[in-house]
Amino acid sequence: MTRIDSTPAPSTEAVTVHAASATEGSWWRDAVIYQVYPRSFADANGDGVGDLPGITAHLDHLVELGVDALWLSPFYRSPQKDAGYDVADYRDVDPLFGTLADFDALLEAAHARGVRVVVDLVPNHTSDQHAWFQAALAAGEGSPERARYLFREGRGAGGEEPPNNWQSIFGGPAWTRTTRPGGTPGQWYLHLFDSSQPDLDWSNPEVRTEFEDVLRFWLDRGVDGFRVDVAHGMVKADGLPDWDGHVAMVDGTEADGTDAVNGSGNSGPMFDQDGVHEIYRAWRRILDSYDGDRAMVAEAWVEPLSRLARYVRPDEMHQAFNFSFLVAGWDAARLRGVVESSFKANDAVGAPATWVLSNHDVVRHASRLGLAEPENRPNGLFATDPQPDAALGLRRARAASLLMLGLPGSSYVYQGEELGLPEHTSLDDAVRQDPAFFRTRGAEAGRDGCRVPMPWEAGAPAYGFSPDGAAWLPQPSSYAAHAVDVERTTPGSTFDLYRTALATRKAEHLGTGDLAWLDVFADDPHVVALRNRDVVVLANLGGAPVALPTGAEILVASGELTDDADAVAVPSDTTVWYRA
Ligand code: GLC
Repeated sequence: MTRIDSTPAPSTEAVTVHAASATEGSWWRDAVIYQVYPRSFADANGDGVGDLPGITAHLDHLVELGVDALWLSPFYRSPQKDAGYDVADYRDVDPLFGTLADFDALLEAAHARGVRVVVDLVPNHTSDQHAWFQAALAAGEGSPERARYLFREGRGAGGEEPPNNWQSIFGGPAWTRTTRPGGTPGQWYLHLFDSSQPDLDWSNPEVRTEFEDVLRFWLDRGVDGFRVDVAHGMVKADGLPDWDGHVAMVDGTEADGTDAVNGSGNSGPMFDQDGVHEIYRAWRRILDSYDGDRAMVAEAWVEPLSRLARYVRPDEMHQAFNFSFLVAGWDAARLRGVVESSFKANDAVGAPATWVLSNHDVVRHASRLGLAEPENRPNGLFATDPQPDAALGLRRARAASLLMLGLPGSSYVYQGEELGLPEHTSLDDAVRQDPAFFRTRGAEAGRDGCRVPMPWEAGAPAYGFSPDGAAWLPQPSSYAAHAVDVERTTPGSTFDLYRTALATRKAEHLGTGDLAWLDVFADDPHVVALRNRDVVVLANLGGAPVALPTGAEILVASGELTDDADAVAVPSDTTVWYRA
């Protein structure tokens, strides 16, 4: 209790970092958007893979939770080499997930409940089974069909070396050589990801026209927006120059999370080229020509945050995922640094800040924050790796989520985090599907552990994921305690915490609020404390409890508060919202 003895109770003296939105803005400015990963949400037809009718059947879960919108990861026709991020037909639903009619029914049912629907757009690459790529292979070298992709001659006398030294983000070379009809080796094609995901050439006007048409196809169907995959990767530097950096989607932030220049990762000639912005300006004009306030969010692993803010200038995207927040770990100074830099960068262009802690590409934060070094971001975990401390991870995850949901702006929630789901850290290698596991020859576990099917009923086969218990990935036994039917009815469960937090956030208009650091904790190594409107959000990341002012009205707490020494106190790894 040293802190209680030595630190004055927090007063509301504060330094403003971000001003409240003058009026309630467009829905996406403060929306809580729930990511549905269709293959793992709910399986209606019993084949072990989630589907669109399964999502429709569980929409009331999202309504009870209180989210404003859902973002659906890809459900388009695809050979599923990268779980649907390898699209063979952008205008159709894969039979694995249902039909276009199922999509329309889902959209209608969501809208009837006041929930908006954002779909995923994958414009950097197609599947190698896409009609364009098949035509390109058939048409041969120098053809207009090949000019939609990045085919190049190899280096070396016989063209046997790849055209440049780029590596695939999933491991191995970023180039694959084709074979001519007679069996002789031919040109190479670029794929930043798997060899089944050839990159498109965005300098080709035909590619631009095609995707503008795809946007219209889904806008006409009534979607509320798009999450744009690899939004920083579509334009490559002229001449595709060699680059000795390590190609990666994730990148290191500086320890304080401020606008430091990044060292490697996403700063190469394949990422964040100025030319991408003209694409988004054209798309914005299309979205603006529709009614209903449609929005785009960029998946752009770009740093510093001032550079990322260029994607959300007034005539470009509406939002960009804030991965700097996701990678900030569990460190008060670093979190404050990222929050402050985010507002500085986004306020300068009039865009809302966004926040995210988990998605289908990273170790779930209930496990990540239970690792010895939470700021390290392994690409999945093997059973033989040092294991996360599950209890500590969950405690911190709940605290981190409550901190996130108390920030002004828009927040993303990945399916299952509202249950406190841990990563599956002991999957058998035989069931792994992520191409990153195979392309790194098993050096990286990959992302399967965060994509395990949802538990709906503790006592049912596959925890109620599918009618007969089929599941494309096995669920860990720890999922029983997290099942929706258990958590909905258990006071203090993680679901209860999210439900209460979202309702309070809405009632108090925190999403459009202001942000000021509480003076007394402004440089505290263990506490993040801010005022949003008249609500104080206080996260204690340190070991000693933090006393609250006498009479503080507690609105939400991520864990039990202590009541020693005549004061209510916030214990370690706990966040509280209160009114002083
Ligand atoms: C994005 C997706 C990821 C996918 C990759 C290639 O990062 O989120 O899941 O593998 O793009 O499309």
